[in-house]
Amino acid sequence: MFASALTLAVSAASLVTGASAAAAASTLKDAASPLYFGAALGVGHLTNASDPTFAKLAKQQFSAATPENEMKWGVVNPEAGVYEFADADTIVAFTKKNNMKLRCHNLVWHSQLSPYVTALPLNKVKAAMLQHIKDVVEHFAGDCYAWDVINEPFNDDGTYRDDVFYQAMGEDYFEIALKQVRAYDSHAKLYINDYNIEGGNAKSDAMLALAKKLYKKGLLDGIGFESHFILNELPGDIAENMERFTKVGLDIAVTELDIRYNLPETATTDSQQATQYASVVNACQSVKRCVGITVWGITDLYSWIPQTFTGQGAALLWDDDYKKKPAYKAVINAFVD
Ligand SMILES: *[C@@H]1O[C@H](CO)[C@@H](O)[C@H](O)[C@H]1NC(C)=O
Repeated sequence: MFASALTLAVSAASLVTGASAAAAASTLKDAASPLYFGAALGVGHLTNASDPTFAKLAKQQFSAATPENEMKWGVVNPEAGVYEFADADTIVAFTKKNNMKLRCHNLVWHSQLSPYVTALPLNKVKAAMLQHIKDVVEHFAGDCYAWDVINEPFNDDGTYRDDVFYQAMGEDYFEIALKQVRAYDSHAKLYINDYNIEGGNAKSDAMLALAKKLYKKGLLDGIGFESHFILNELPGDIAENMERFTKVGLDIAVTELDIRYNLPETATTDSQQATQYASVVNACQSVKRCVGITVWGITDLYSWIPQTFTGQGAALLWDDDYKKKPAYKAVINAFVD
């Protein structure tokens, strides 16, 4: 009798503690401040009159945004000399109205690239890249907190990806692209963004070596760790690896975080995922120049994962019905602690 009364008292006390920590910061952005907490936003979801919850959560919960597709070369510049900025402009206006930082994404990437570029003879690729960067960066100049200038340039073994930019210019394309962005937007922080560089390995070693060279030339400000993780397979050395980059003088950002697994979602996967989201927050918080975290979407309903990885999903902080998952609270508590 006495023992069970004590048990009750203890669990009531821990409930109160949990409740007051959550009350102290009731949104992701408040919990994360002074770091930012961002989400990738797709314009189709943001302007969907049948789903007002998406835009409501975007402004309530997040202090930064990345256009999910709307600034990619193939979307914004489908043909030589043709620019379609309307969808990106909608997202830019949303971030301004709601006082959010904007991570502009991206300028030079082998994927979602317009066919006109891959069809060019190699000796015309440099001019096309310079023109694209000039036109796009000028259009958004002053709006971007950061630009992902080069996206996913490495293979997993640390060699350069053999895309049209590398074939046309070799390693020089990094410098040429970064200089061009600086020339048309002197305020944006310039990033290289990639996946599988979150822990120490051949790919992050290669990124570090490149980053040092570009930082010394004053052309690079930060590295984006995409952080598309698989449940129970997160690297154990994220903070140490971030520090290798920040020691150079660079900022680090977690730019595309999600944690996927083979469905179904269960109490066990929810709880493992919550712990692992918290560990990413803790890593970023422990590194002085980790400036913020962006998750790659809001709800599992619209996540890119199920279409890309068959049978996988449930990678984000809200489920298909916009119910907060345990990972949501774990992120808030990790920031608050
Ligand atoms: C718009 O909202 C409806 C209703 O929730 C949903 O079925 C549809 O997939 C949404 N479309 C987009 C592009 O978000």
